[in-house]
Amino acid sequence: MSFKLLARRFYSSKIVKLTSESYPNIKRDSKYGKITPQTIEFFQNLLGSSSTITDNDLLSSYNEDQMRKYKGQSQLCLKPKTTEQVSQILKYCNEFKLAVVPQGGNTGLVGGSIPVFDEIIISLSNLNKIRSFDQVSGILKVDAGVVLETADSYLAEQGYIFPLDLGAKGSCHIGGNVATNAGGLRLLRYGSLHGSVLGLEVVLPDGTILNSMNSLRKDNTGYDLKQLFIGSEGTIGIITGVSILCPSRPKAVNIAFLGLDSYEAVQKTFQRAKNELCEILSAFEFMDKESQLQTLKFLKTSHPLAEDGEEFPDYNFYVLIETSGSNKEHDDFKLETFLESVMEDELVLNGVVSQDESQLKTLWNWREGISEASTFDGGVYKYDVSLPLPVMYDLVNETRTRLQDADLISIDDSTKPVVDVVGYGHIGDGNLHLNVCVREYNKNVEKVLEPFIYKWIQNKNGSISAEHGLGFQKKNYIGYSKSEIEIKMIKDLKNHYDPNGILNPYKYV
Ligand code: FAD
Ligand code: MLT
Ligand code: ZN
Repeated sequence: MSFKLLARRFYSSKIVKLTSESYPNIKRDSKYGKITPQTIEFFQNLLGSSSTITDNDLLSSYNEDQMRKYKGQSQLCLKPKTTEQVSQILKYCNEFKLAVVPQGGNTGLVGGSIPVFDEIIISLSNLNKIRSFDQVSGILKVDAGVVLETADSYLAEQGYIFPLDLGAKGSCHIGGNVATNAGGLRLLRYGSLHGSVLGLEVVLPDGTILNSMNSLRKDNTGYDLKQLFIGSEGTIGIITGVSILCPSRPKAVNIAFLGLDSYEAVQKTFQRAKNELCEILSAFEFMDKESQLQTLKFLKTSHPLAEDGEEFPDYNFYVLIETSGSNKEHDDFKLETFLESVMEDELVLNGVVSQDESQLKTLWNWREGISEASTFDGGVYKYDVSLPLPVMYDLVNETRTRLQDADLISIDDSTKPVVDVVGYGHIGDGNLHLNVCVREYNKNVEKVLEPFIYKWIQNKNGSISAEHGLGFQKKNYIGYSKSEIEIKMIKDLKNHYDPNGILNPYKYV
C-alpha cells in the first residue's frame, strides 16, 4: 500500500491544537531572530516568489503533521531547488540567528518536521532529481527530496530495488529516510541505512557544503562522518544528496498471512521461519487482534483470514511473512513445506498465501494500513520500541491494564478518551509498535502513558525509539535509553556544528 498525505480525509475533523498550547512549558527562545520584510525579500530574490511561501493557507500543510498532533506557527516555507540555494539559505539564517526546520515528506511520527514556534520551514520537495544510477554496482545517487516510491519505481525498471520499504513510501523523501534512519519492512533482509548509504551531500548550519557522495563500499580513511547525519533528524545539517547501494530486485515474491493463538507461537514461528526459509525470508511482521480490528474499521473490507460469511476471524495474533528470491518454484516449495510443518505442529492455525500481485498488495494492506487506521478515531499516542522478544508483548498488555485501571479506555463508550491499545511491528528486528488510539489527545492519557512506558523499556534494557526517532515527542526521554556521557557527547557535537542552535531547535535532546 502506498500512503499519501491526501488520505487526511479519514481523520477527525477536530482542530489541531498548536504545539505551544499543548506543551505550554516550552517557551520560544528569545535568542532567535524574527523574520522581517527584508528576510522575505532576500529569499524571494534568491528562490523566486513561488518557492518562498508566506500565504497562511498554503503554509498550513507544512505546519501540521499527519497524526494531527503537532502544529507550528511558521510564517515562511522555503523550497530550494539546488544544494547551492540550501547553502545560501542556511548562511543567511545562521547570520541572523533564524531558526529553521528541515522538512521532507512530512510523514515523520514524532513531530520532528514541524516547527514548534515560528521556525522557518525548509522543504526539500523541489530538490528531487535522480542524479545517476550505475547498472553494474547498483549505486544510486539522488537529491534528498526524491520520494522513496519514485526511486523504487525507477530502480524496478533497471532490475534493482531500493533497500528500504515503508508504508509512507508514496510521500516520504529519501533525505527524510536518511535523516530519521528509517527501518521499515525489509530491514530484516537489507539491513539498516547505516550499512547501505555510501555517501551523503550535506549543508552544514553555516552554509558549508560537505560533499561525500562516494561510490565506494570500502573506505577506511578517518572517521566515517556520514554516519553522524544518518538519524540526526535535521539537527546538524540538511541532507541534500544521497548515494546508496541497491540490491537486485527479487524475481519471485510470496506473502503468507497467518493466524496464531498466542505471542509464544509468534516467537516460535519466527525462529522456525529463520531456520527453514533462511535466505528467502525478507519480512516477518506481527500484528495483534486489536490492530486488525482497528484496520478493519478503516479498510472496511473482510479480513483475509475470515471464513465464508464472517467479517473477522478469531485469532489473537497474525503474522505476515514475505519471501523474496530468484527462483519461484524453489521459493514456493520452501514456503509450502515450512507452512505445512508449522501448521502440523499447531503453531499456526490458519493461513493464506498470495497467488498474484493484487493479492500480495491486499495482504500487505492489512499490515501497512495499521498506521493510518490508528488515527481513524481522532488521534494516536505512538511508541516505537526495541525490546527483547520474550517480553515485548508484555508492554502492550500492561499498558492496556494501566489504562483500564485509570478508567480511560473503552471501545464502545465514546466518553472515554481511549478507544483501544494495539500492538504490531517488525518482530524480525525486535521492534514493537505500540499505538494507543484515542478519540482526542488528552493530557490524562498522556500522563498515564509517560513516563511509565519509557521506564518500562529502560528496565528491560530496550530502546525508546527503534526507528521513528526522538523528534519533539521523545526529546525529554532520551535519558531512558542513553547514558549521561552519551547525551553529553551528542550535545557537544550539536553545539560544535551548530553553535547558534538554528537547526531544528526544541527537538532531539
Ligand atoms: P519528515 O517527516 O519530513 O522529517 C523527519 C525528520 O527528518 C525531521 O526531523 C526533519 O527535520 C528531518 N529531515 C527531513 N528531511 C531532511 C533532510 N533532507 N535533511 C535533514 N533533515 C531532514 N518509519 C520507519 O522507520 N519505518 C516504518 O516502517 C515507517 N512506516 C511508516 C508508515 C506510515 C504510514 C507513516 C505515516 C510513517 C511511517 N514511518 C516509518 C515514519 C516516517 O515515514 C519515516 O520517519 C520517514 O523516514 C520520514 O521521512 P520524511 O521525508 O517524511 O521526513
Ligand atoms: C510501521 O511499521 O507501520 C511504521 O513504523 C509506522 C507506524 O508504526 O505507524
Ligand atoms: Zn515500523
